[in-house]
Formats: sequence, structure tokens, C-alpha cells
Amino acid sequence: MSITIKSAEDIEGMRVACRLASEVLDYITPHIKPGITTKEIDRLGAECMAQQGTISATVGYQPPGYPPYPASLCTSVNHVVCHGIPNDKPLKKGDIVNVDVTVITKDGWYGDNSRMFLIGECSIAAKRLSALTFEAMWHGIVQVKPGARLGDIGHAIQKFAEGHGFSVVREFCGHGIGQKFHEEPQVLHYGKPGTLEELVPGMVFTIEPMINAGRREVKEFGNDGWTIVTKDHSLSAQWEHTVLVTPTGYEVMTLSAGSPPLPSFVTATKT
Ligand code: MF3
Ligand code: CO
Ligand code: CO
Repeated sequence: MSITIKSAEDIEGMRVACRLASEVLDYITPHIKPGITTKEIDRLGAECMAQQGTISATVGYQPPGYPPYPASLCTSVNHVVCHGIPNDKPLKKGDIVNVDVTVITKDGWYGDNSRMFLIGECSIAAKRLSALTFEAMWHGIVQVKPGARLGDIGHAIQKFAEGHGFSVVREFCGHGIGQKFHEEPQVLHYGKPGTLEELVPGMVFTIEPMINAGRREVKEFGNDGWTIVTKDHSLSAQWEHTVLVTPTGYEVMTLSAGSPPLPSFVTATKT
């Protein structure tokens, strides 16, 4: 297998899927406050997808060696790094949660994105981790242009995150996406400039750094086969966009009315 290059028509299909994935996050946003359970967030996500006429890419998703994923989205709270399974525990003031949504449209296109949510008033450390992880993702995105390499993206993210005293999770990465959930290439969130695959117009992949406040090591939690936590129990944050390589730069595809404002060093969502 190799990296798929999307045609103009494919890109239209991806734009729709990605906008809808972002709109699922918009839909749940007003409900995410102290007292809501992650299962209720999952139900709201499923309700929105039903209204859209999309389906969740995660329900029943089963990569080799994994049990089928049991929910419509992922909810990763505090020291959960990724793949948290929605449950009946209410969120409380001071929690931080990543909600990760991947939809499939009727035409078979996948859109994948995630955002952090702060539950009520949070610690300065938690707010800082979420905000700087958002910036780290954007430092990766602005590297995207034909002729740049995947290592440029990883390096930009790693340098920024580690420069603020955080660490970058190595075990999970961004990925090509299209009519499959996870395609080539792997998009590492660490690395060396000028290394790895050269970017070509028409490539579409996610950038989704997982950044830990403490050490970078992670481990499986419990026995659900999915939940990943930080080994040292430190907080972890993640943001995710699906990005197209354009002839002149990048187009962030997973945008909608509720997308957060750009960091000050970013001039455009499309270059
Ligand atoms: N949406 C996640 C990603 O960004 C993958 C979640 S797989 C699941 O790649 F099965 F855990 F939902
Ligand atoms: Co992804
Ligand atoms: Co995702």
C-alpha cells in the first residue's frame, strides 16, 4: 500500500466529511459542563450523526489485536491520553476532556477531528497544557506544503512542546485518511527536519499530537483493550485536524462555525 493522492472530486468528498465531523463537536459543545457523563456526550454525538446522515467510524472499529470499539466517539479525561471509552461517571469542575469524532459520509469519506474541553474552572496547569497543545498542533499544520517532509511536522511539534517542558507521546500518531479510517502515511509528532516522506498536493492526513504535562510514557489502563493513560498519571491533552496538502500549502478541512480561533502566529486556515 502507498499514500493515496486525492482527486478534485475526492477532495470535495473529504471537505464534506471533515466539516460534518467538526459540526458534531459544535453540537455537543454547549452540553459539556460539570455533571454530564461521557456516555451522554456519546449519545449526543450519535444523535448529531443520525441527523447528518453520517455514521460513526469508531463503533465496532477493530484493528488487528483490538476488541471492537464500543462507542460513537472517544472521550479521554485528564490523564487518559487517547481512546477513552464513554462511561457513566459525571465530569466534574477542573476536569479536562478530549472528544475525538470520526464520521463516515454516505459517499464513504472519513473526517476525523478532536478538541479539548475544560470543565468549569480548571487549574492554570490544565489550561496551559490544553492551550499549548492546540498551538503545538498548529505549529505542525503550518509546516504543510509541497516539498516539505513529514519530519518537518513532527519536529515543529516536538520542539514547541518540549520547549514548554511538556513531552510528546510516541506510541500514537496522525495518519492518512480518505475512504479508510487509517491510511498511510503515519504522521509522527516528533522527529527531524528534512526527513521522511515528501509532501505532495492531494495528500490528506491528520495531525493530532498527544502532549503530556509529565513524562512521555504511556500504558494500557484496565482491561477494556483501548484506554491509554500516562504512566506517571500526569495530565495529557490532544487536538486533531484533518489537513489537505494544496499546491501552495495546506487546507485545514475539519473546520466549522464552532472551531476555536487560530493562534496568533497562524494567518490562514488555507494557504
Ligand atoms: N479518532 C481516533 C484517531 O484520531 C481513532 C479512534 S479509534 C477508536 O485516529 F476505535 F478508538 F475509536
Ligand atoms: Co485521527
Ligand atoms: Co480522531
